[in-house]
Amino acid sequence: MNKETSRILKRIDALGEISDDKQCLSRFYGTKSHKKARKKLLKWMAKAGMQTSTDIVGNVKGVLKSSNPNAKHFMIGSHYDSVFNAGKYDGPLGIILGIEIAHAFSKQNTELPFHLHVCAFADEEGCRFNIAYLGSSLIAGNFNKNWLKKEDDYGYSLSRLMKKNKGDFKDINKNIIPPESWLGYFEPHIEQGPVLCDENTAVCLVSGIAAQNRVNITWKGISGHAGTYPMDLRNDALCAASEFILGVENLGKQNKEKLVTTVGKIKSEPNVSNVIPGLVSHSLDLRSPNNKFLENITKTLYYKALKIAEERHIELQWEIMQSNPSVTCNNQLKEALATSIKKYNKKLIEIPSGAGHDAVMLSNVAPVSMLFIRCKEGISHNPEEYVSPEDIETSFKVSFDFINELAKK
Ligand code: GLV
Ligand code: MN
Ligand code: MN
Ligand code: MN
Repeated sequence: MNKETSRILKRIDALGEISDDKQCLSRFYGTKSHKKARKKLLKWMAKAGMQTSTDIVGNVKGVLKSSNPNAKHFMIGSHYDSVFNAGKYDGPLGIILGIEIAHAFSKQNTELPFHLHVCAFADEEGCRFNIAYLGSSLIAGNFNKNWLKKEDDYGYSLSRLMKKNKGDFKDINKNIIPPESWLGYFEPHIEQGPVLCDENTAVCLVSGIAAQNRVNITWKGISGHAGTYPMDLRNDALCAASEFILGVENLGKQNKEKLVTTVGKIKSEPNVSNVIPGLVSHSLDLRSPNNKFLENITKTLYYKALKIAEERHIELQWEIMQSNPSVTCNNQLKEALATSIKKYNKKLIEIPSGAGHDAVMLSNVAPVSMLFIRCKEGISHNPEEYVSPEDIETSFKVSFDFINELAKK
């Protein structure tokens, strides 16, 4: 194993140890472990020779500056928050690869024709506020100020959390790199699916990222005594939600070629066995490569929810948290990355991403590119997530060569 790979593996393990939960890896945005990880990342970036900084969202940024006065900006990035009971590669692998690439350039004292940034985005998963890409949306100048008043499950608002970081809300979408000054963005990430295992290949190109809508839905019924209330007179919020959720699954199954539908989070109140549920809120995650189709499906589900609410005399709240159109990776960057893949990997394939990535936000300002790295059996968002040292070595060689060749152009 070469020294880059062994350092990458050590760092993956070190970040993987930083968790809010003793039993498993869980690093939600703005928690104690999240801040601890931030400090480690800052230290590693500084060690790699980069100028470091953080911002009001909690992104950790490192840059190797070019001395060229007209230099554009190129960024390698990924996220350092995690889902609950996560694997240690989803997010951190891309950041740590980026730091290793920057280290290689600063060690060689290479004069870069562009400013090379590495960014560890504070929140991609959106597990705490059900808003994905809090970190990268700030970098892309797309941070929605309405998000500031959103609260987590404990009533803690995003603005209260962010006030602890350096920076000013007023300037939140200012001081960003303007689109014309971007050369590009690159995100190496585990595939999180089985195609690369199936194809027996370590890495591949990514063609683009599916469109995604995130909705928060609340059903307000009337709670009451489970023993005394006749069945016909109930306004059971959980039954309304259940009817809807099975409809969501059905619609996904009927359109499985171009749609995935998920309700992953649900809260029922008062959540005791002998009270009819009076209030239920849950998430809705809809994804498709086709923007128009996703828009229509979202409308269909909204009308379905309205109908259920009406029939069951339940109050419905429907809040679209995020609506992100599909993304196409940049052709020129993809061609350059393909050349690097061919040097170090036997096979060259290209697949679309069903998972969301920070590249979605960056695509609003920069040409974006992504490299997928094989993970064992395609398992991800799971502690069993695993990437072999050999595949990490290949991903480093390919990624370094890609940036190095861009630097020669
Ligand atoms: C993040 O992993 C997502 O795709 O939702
Ligand atoms: Mn993830
Ligand atoms: Mn990820
Ligand atoms: Mn993700």
